[in-house]
Parts: sequence; C-alpha cells; structure tokens
Amino acid sequence: MSQQMAKGRTLTFSIFRYDPQMPDDKPKMVDYQIEEAPGMTVFIALNQLRELQDPSLQFDFVCRAGICGSCAMVINGMPTLACRTLTSKFADGKIKLMPLPGFELIGDLSVNTGKFMREIAERLKLWLHPKVGDDDIHRLETPMSPEEAAKLYELERCVECGVCVSACATKQMRDTFVGAVGLMKIARFELDSRDARNAEDFYHVIGNQDGVFGCMTLLGCQDNCPKDLPHMQQIAYLRRKMAVTLV
Ligand code: SF4
Ligand code: FES
Repeated sequence: MSQQMAKGRTLTFSIFRYDPQMPDDKPKMVDYQIEEAPGMTVFIALNQLRELQDPSLQFDFVCRAGICGSCAMVINGMPTLACRTLTSKFADGKIKLMPLPGFELIGDLSVNTGKFMREIAERLKLWLHPKVGDDDIHRLETPMSPEEAAKLYELERCVECGVCVSACATKQMRDTFVGAVGLMKIARFELDSRDARNAEDFYHVIGNQDGVFGCMTLLGCQDNCPKDLPHMQQIAYLRRKMAVTLV
C-alpha cells in the first residue's frame, strides 16, 4: 500500500504491557488507536502514543535511524527495528507489538539487551588481544591492508540490537547458546591480524554446543538481521576452522 493511500487510516496498535517492578501488575495486551501519517514508522507512532495517550508506555530508542539498535521489538511476529518499519507495510492497519524474547524485561517493550551483550563480551573475551610487543605505544603502527579493513568493517556493522538472538530457535531452547551476535563477534576477532589468538584459542571459547556447533542452521538470525550481516557464511567459516583444530 502506498504512503498516499495509507494517509489518514486509523491504525490499531495492540501493545504488550507489563511492569515487573510493580508487584501487582500482570502481563496484558492493551489496544491503542492512532491516525496514520505519511512516512510514519512504528517508532513515530509509539512516540505519539506516549506523548498524547499514555506517558507510562516503555520502549527504547536513541538514534531513530537504524544505527543504535535500541528500538528492536517483535512487530506482528517478526523481531525487527521499530524506527525502520513503516506502518504502511501493514495492509489491515493492525500492529501487534511484543518485547524481544530472550532478554530481561525492563517493562512493556523495553528489554535489557545491554546486560546480555556485556555478559557475552566477558564470556567470549570480545576484545582485541594484542600480540607481544604490539602494546608498546612507541612502536610504529603496522598498516592494515584495505582488503582486511573492508572485511573487518563488514562485521563491525552489527548494532547489537538483539534481533538475531530473539529470532534464534536454538537460543530460545538453550539459554546458554551464545547466539549469532556472539559468533559474529568471534569471527571479527578471528579475522583481525592484530589479534594474538589462534584457532585453538577460539576453539576453547566457542568449539562446543553453546557455540558454533550448537547452531541448527535455521537461518532466523540471517533472515531478520536489520544490517543484513552474513551470519551463515561466518558460522560455516568458524565451523571449518574449529573442525580443523580437532584434526
Ligand atoms: S548481528 Fe544483526 S541482528 Fe544480530 S545484533 Fe548484530 S545487527 Fe542485530
Ligand atoms: S532508534 Fe536506533 S536503531 Fe531504532
């Protein structure tokens, strides 16, 4: 449906409401109606709902441009970014919003992805481990090849929105699975020629069912990632690397 045709429609939002801080509160769906405007995104609609109808509505955002990853939620059954989802996409004007599953619920549509990302970073040691001598601040920098920089940049595009974690059936069944975001970040450091760790070191971190061998290749991560990151290609690459260390 074009934005022009969509102008003036009445949208019905059915929104999950629950505040775990309130002892008597119970999870429920609450309906709201709002007039659609041209180019309206789910984020814009939520903002209007909060400003004009219900200031207690909780949801997250920072950039409004698909960069910070904060506004991820489940929209009509699909985990995605609210600020990148046009309301005109939904022909019947009915939009159901749920918080991302697999994360601690802060309230309503707001979840604590930061806590999960921090735990994964500590568990998988997601920082550059410099080679001996590379931490000498007086040495001359070694230039990186443009090809390597381009490959690193591709994997650095992850905005830590958590969509791939919520879309992952393995993660929903096994809470300890590191998810595509964890594996993508390991792939980023495995690729980085400045990192001192070798395939065996990475094997000790992800060479198990909670890591690269736990993925059931259901493609939920790749199908839903708002940054179109190549999860399957990178997971297959890591699997080959890990398998070689076993030989
Ligand atoms: S890999 Fe994609 S879906 Fe997963 S956290 Fe990063 S940007 Fe979001
Ligand atoms: S508000 Fe930053 S990605 Fe949507």
